[in-house]
Amino acid sequence: MSLVPYDEKALWGMQKFHQSSSTYHFANRTIQIKQDWKQLGVAAVVWDAAVVLCTFLETGGIDLQGRSVIELGAGTGLLGIVAVLLGAHVTITDRKAALTLLELNVQANLPDDLQLRAMVKELTWGQDLVSFSPGGYDFILGADIVYLEETFTDLLQTLDYLCSEQTVILLSCRLRYERDQKFLMMMKGLFSVQEVFYNPDNDVHIFKAQRKVLKRDL
Ligand SMILES: C[S@@+](CC[C@H](N)C(=O)[O-])C[C@H]1O[C@@H](n2cnc3c(N)ncnc32)[C@H](O)[C@@H]1O
Repeated sequence: MSLVPYDEKALWGMQKFHQSSSTYHFANRTIQIKQDWKQLGVAAVVWDAAVVLCTFLETGGIDLQGRSVIELGAGTGLLGIVAVLLGAHVTITDRKAALTLLELNVQANLPDDLQLRAMVKELTWGQDLVSFSPGGYDFILGADIVYLEETFTDLLQTLDYLCSEQTVILLSCRLRYERDQKFLMMMKGLFSVQEVFYNPDNDVHIFKAQRKVLKRDL
Protein backbone atom coordinates (compact mmCIF):
# COMPACT_ATOMS: atom_id res chain seq x y z
CA MET A 1 0.00 0.00 0.00
CA SER A 2 1.25 3.43 -0.87
CA LEU A 3 0.89 5.68 2.15
CA VAL A 4 0.44 9.39 2.28
CA PRO A 5 1.13 11.34 5.45
CA TYR A 6 -2.33 12.82 5.68
CA ASP A 7 -4.09 9.47 5.26
CA GLU A 8 -3.79 8.75 8.94
CA LYS A 9 -6.84 6.45 9.11
CA ALA A 10 -5.04 4.03 6.78
CA LEU A 11 -2.05 4.11 9.12
CA TRP A 12 -4.15 3.53 12.20
CA GLY A 13 -5.73 0.43 10.72
CA MET A 14 -2.30 -1.10 10.15
CA GLN A 15 -1.25 -1.00 13.76
CA LYS A 16 -2.83 -3.11 16.48
CA PHE A 17 -0.89 -1.11 19.04
CA HIS A 18 -0.48 2.53 18.14
CA GLN A 19 2.92 2.94 19.75
CA SER A 20 6.01 1.20 18.46
CA SER A 21 9.69 1.79 18.16
CA SER A 22 12.15 1.20 15.36
CA THR A 23 15.91 0.95 15.29
CA TYR A 24 18.36 2.65 12.91
CA HIS A 25 22.14 2.68 12.58
CA PHE A 26 23.79 5.94 11.61
CA ALA A 27 27.05 7.67 12.53
CA ASN A 28 28.28 4.53 14.32
CA ARG A 29 25.37 4.68 16.74
CA THR A 30 22.18 2.74 17.27
CA ILE A 31 19.18 5.03 17.30
CA GLN A 32 15.88 3.89 18.75
CA ILE A 33 12.93 5.97 17.62
CA LYS A 34 9.56 5.82 19.39
CA GLN A 35 6.63 6.22 17.02
CA ASP A 36 2.99 6.94 17.67
CA TRP A 37 0.63 6.02 14.88
CA LYS A 38 -2.28 7.75 16.55
CA GLN A 39 -0.69 10.89 17.92
CA LEU A 40 -3.25 13.64 17.96
CA GLY A 41 -3.25 15.48 14.65
CA VAL A 42 -0.15 13.84 13.18
CA ALA A 43 0.94 10.28 12.49
CA ALA A 44 4.34 10.41 14.11
CA VAL A 45 6.26 7.68 12.33
CA VAL A 46 9.61 7.64 10.56
CA TRP A 47 9.00 8.15 6.85
CA ASP A 48 11.27 6.63 4.18
CA ALA A 49 12.31 10.10 3.08
CA ALA A 50 13.96 10.68 6.47
CA VAL A 51 15.95 7.46 6.25
CA VAL A 52 17.05 8.27 2.68
CA LEU A 53 18.20 11.77 3.65
CA CYS A 54 20.05 10.44 6.73
CA THR A 55 21.88 7.96 4.48
CA PHE A 56 22.66 10.72 1.96
CA LEU A 57 24.07 12.95 4.70
CA GLU A 58 26.20 10.18 6.12
CA THR A 59 27.53 8.89 2.80
CA GLY A 60 27.08 11.80 0.41
CA GLY A 61 30.10 13.84 1.34
CA ILE A 62 28.21 16.70 2.97
CA ASP A 63 30.24 17.97 5.90
CA LEU A 64 27.93 18.97 8.74
CA GLN A 65 30.72 19.36 11.29
CA GLY A 66 30.15 22.58 13.24
CA ARG A 67 27.43 23.74 10.82
CA SER A 68 24.20 25.41 11.78
CA VAL A 69 21.17 23.38 10.71
CA ILE A 70 17.41 23.71 11.06
CA GLU A 71 15.04 20.83 10.36
CA LEU A 72 11.43 21.55 9.40
CA GLY A 73 8.60 19.07 10.07
CA ALA A 74 10.92 16.78 12.02
CA GLY A 75 8.19 14.34 13.15
CA THR A 76 9.88 11.74 15.34
CA GLY A 77 13.27 13.42 14.98
CA LEU A 78 15.47 10.79 13.27
CA LEU A 79 16.94 13.21 10.72
CA GLY A 80 17.72 15.94 13.24
CA ILE A 81 19.30 13.40 15.61
CA VAL A 82 21.51 12.06 12.82
CA ALA A 83 22.53 15.62 11.84
CA VAL A 84 23.63 16.22 15.46
CA LEU A 85 25.57 12.93 15.47
CA LEU A 86 27.29 14.07 12.27
CA GLY A 87 28.55 17.19 14.04
CA ALA A 88 25.96 19.89 13.41
CA HIS A 89 24.17 22.29 15.75
CA VAL A 90 20.54 21.53 14.98
CA THR A 91 17.28 23.30 15.68
CA ILE A 92 14.74 20.50 15.32
CA THR A 93 11.26 21.84 14.66
CA ASP A 94 7.69 20.76 14.13
CA ARG A 95 4.15 21.74 15.08
CA LYS A 96 3.20 21.77 18.75
CA ALA A 97 1.36 18.41 18.55
CA ALA A 98 4.58 16.66 17.56
CA LEU A 99 6.92 18.14 20.16
CA THR A 100 6.46 15.76 23.12
CA LEU A 101 7.46 12.65 21.21
CA LEU A 102 10.14 14.58 19.33
CA GLU A 103 11.72 15.79 22.57
CA LEU A 104 11.54 12.27 24.02
CA ASN A 105 13.40 10.78 21.04
CA VAL A 106 16.05 13.51 21.02
CA GLN A 107 16.72 13.06 24.73
CA ALA A 108 16.79 9.26 24.49
CA ASN A 109 19.25 9.16 21.59
CA LEU A 110 21.77 11.89 22.32
CA PRO A 111 24.19 11.76 25.23
CA ASP A 112 24.34 14.84 27.46
CA ASP A 113 27.29 16.46 25.69
CA LEU A 114 25.55 16.20 22.31
CA GLN A 115 22.21 17.42 23.69
CA LEU A 116 23.86 20.83 23.85
CA ARG A 117 23.92 20.87 20.05
CA ALA A 118 20.22 20.02 19.69
CA MET A 119 17.30 22.33 20.33
CA VAL A 120 13.71 21.19 19.87
CA LYS A 121 11.45 24.11 19.07
CA GLU A 122 7.94 24.71 17.79
CA LEU A 123 7.75 25.97 14.23
CA THR A 124 4.47 25.94 12.37
CA TRP A 125 5.34 27.11 8.88
CA GLY A 126 4.67 30.77 8.30
CA GLN A 127 4.03 31.50 12.00
CA ASP A 128 6.18 33.34 14.57
CA LEU A 129 9.19 33.26 12.29
CA VAL A 130 10.73 36.18 14.18
CA SER A 131 11.79 33.76 16.92
CA PHE A 132 14.20 32.22 14.39
CA SER A 133 17.34 33.74 12.98
CA PRO A 134 16.61 35.12 9.47
CA GLY A 135 19.14 33.70 7.04
CA GLY A 136 20.96 32.20 10.00
CA TYR A 137 21.42 28.61 8.91
CA ASP A 138 24.00 26.78 6.79
CA PHE A 139 21.54 24.00 6.02
CA ILE A 140 17.76 23.62 6.08
CA LEU A 141 16.59 20.01 6.09
CA GLY A 142 13.15 18.58 5.45
CA ALA A 143 12.02 14.99 4.94
CA ASP A 144 8.57 14.31 3.50
CA ILE A 145 7.25 17.77 4.26
CA VAL A 146 5.85 18.50 0.79
CA TYR A 147 2.41 16.90 0.82
CA LEU A 148 -0.27 19.38 1.90
CA GLU A 149 -1.07 21.95 -0.76
CA GLU A 150 -2.60 24.32 1.77
CA THR A 151 0.79 24.59 3.51
CA PHE A 152 2.86 25.28 0.37
CA THR A 153 2.74 29.09 0.60
CA ASP A 154 3.65 29.06 4.31
CA LEU A 155 6.40 26.51 3.77
CA LEU A 156 7.90 28.59 0.96
CA GLN A 157 7.70 31.73 3.10
CA THR A 158 9.48 29.87 5.90
CA LEU A 159 12.27 28.69 3.59
CA ASP A 160 12.63 32.22 2.23
CA TYR A 161 12.88 33.68 5.75
CA LEU A 162 15.40 31.14 7.06
CA CYS A 163 17.59 31.12 3.97
CA SER A 164 20.60 33.30 3.16
CA GLU A 165 22.41 33.25 -0.19
CA GLN A 166 24.79 30.67 1.32
CA THR A 167 22.18 28.37 2.86
CA VAL A 168 21.73 24.95 1.30
CA ILE A 169 18.23 23.45 1.46
CA LEU A 170 17.95 19.66 1.25
CA LEU A 171 14.45 18.26 0.84
CA SER A 172 13.75 14.57 0.50
CA CYS A 173 10.34 13.56 -0.71
CA ARG A 174 8.16 11.19 -2.59
CA LEU A 175 6.36 13.05 -5.38
CA ARG A 176 2.99 11.39 -4.96
CA TYR A 177 0.76 13.80 -6.82
CA GLU A 178 0.93 16.56 -9.42
CA ARG A 179 0.49 19.15 -6.68
CA ASP A 180 3.81 18.07 -5.12
CA GLN A 181 5.45 19.07 -8.41
CA LYS A 182 3.65 22.38 -8.01
CA PHE A 183 5.61 23.09 -4.84
CA LEU A 184 8.85 22.48 -6.71
CA MET A 185 7.68 24.95 -9.36
CA MET A 186 6.88 27.49 -6.63
CA MET A 187 10.36 26.96 -5.15
CA LYS A 188 11.99 27.54 -8.51
CA GLY A 189 10.73 31.14 -8.41
CA LEU A 190 13.07 31.91 -5.51
CA PHE A 191 15.66 29.15 -5.52
CA SER A 192 17.87 27.22 -7.91
CA VAL A 193 16.66 23.65 -7.46
CA GLN A 194 18.38 20.47 -8.58
CA GLU A 195 17.72 16.82 -7.92
CA VAL A 196 20.84 15.35 -6.31
CA PHE A 197 19.66 11.82 -5.53
CA TYR A 198 16.87 9.38 -6.35
CA ASN A 199 16.22 6.08 -4.61
CA PRO A 200 14.06 3.89 -6.90
CA ASP A 201 13.50 1.31 -4.15
CA ASN A 202 11.25 3.65 -2.21
CA ASP A 203 10.73 6.35 -4.84
CA VAL A 204 12.33 9.07 -2.75
CA HIS A 205 13.97 12.10 -4.38
CA ILE A 206 16.42 14.49 -2.74
CA PHE A 207 16.38 18.08 -4.00
CA LYS A 208 19.04 20.64 -3.22
CA ALA A 209 18.07 24.31 -3.42
CA GLN A 210 19.88 27.61 -2.98
CA ARG A 211 18.61 31.13 -3.16
CA LYS A 212 18.87 32.62 -6.65
CA VAL A 213 21.36 35.44 -6.72
CA LEU A 214 19.63 38.36 -8.41
CA LYS A 215 21.70 40.36 -10.89
CA ARG A 216 21.74 43.90 -9.60
CA ASP A 217 21.89 46.91 -11.87
CA LEU A 218 25.44 48.25 -12.09
C1 LIG B 1 5.12 13.04 6.72
S1 LIG B 1 5.65 13.75 8.22
C2 LIG B 1 7.42 13.67 8.06
C3 LIG B 1 8.08 13.56 9.39
C4 LIG B 1 9.60 13.39 9.34
N1 LIG B 1 10.23 14.48 8.66
C5 LIG B 1 9.95 12.10 8.67
O1 LIG B 1 10.27 12.12 7.46
O2 LIG B 1 9.89 11.04 9.31
C6 LIG B 1 5.34 15.49 7.96
C7 LIG B 1 5.71 16.35 9.13
O3 LIG B 1 5.44 17.71 8.77
C8 LIG B 1 4.83 18.36 9.87
N2 LIG B 1 3.98 19.46 9.39
C9 LIG B 1 2.88 19.39 8.61
N3 LIG B 1 2.35 20.60 8.41
C10 LIG B 1 3.14 21.47 9.09
C11 LIG B 1 3.11 22.88 9.28
N4 LIG B 1 2.14 23.62 8.73
N5 LIG B 1 4.08 23.43 10.02
C12 LIG B 1 5.06 22.68 10.56
N6 LIG B 1 5.15 21.33 10.42
C13 LIG B 1 4.19 20.74 9.71
C14 LIG B 1 4.00 17.28 10.55
O4 LIG B 1 3.72 17.62 11.89
C15 LIG B 1 4.89 16.07 10.38
O5 LIG B 1 5.75 15.88 11.47
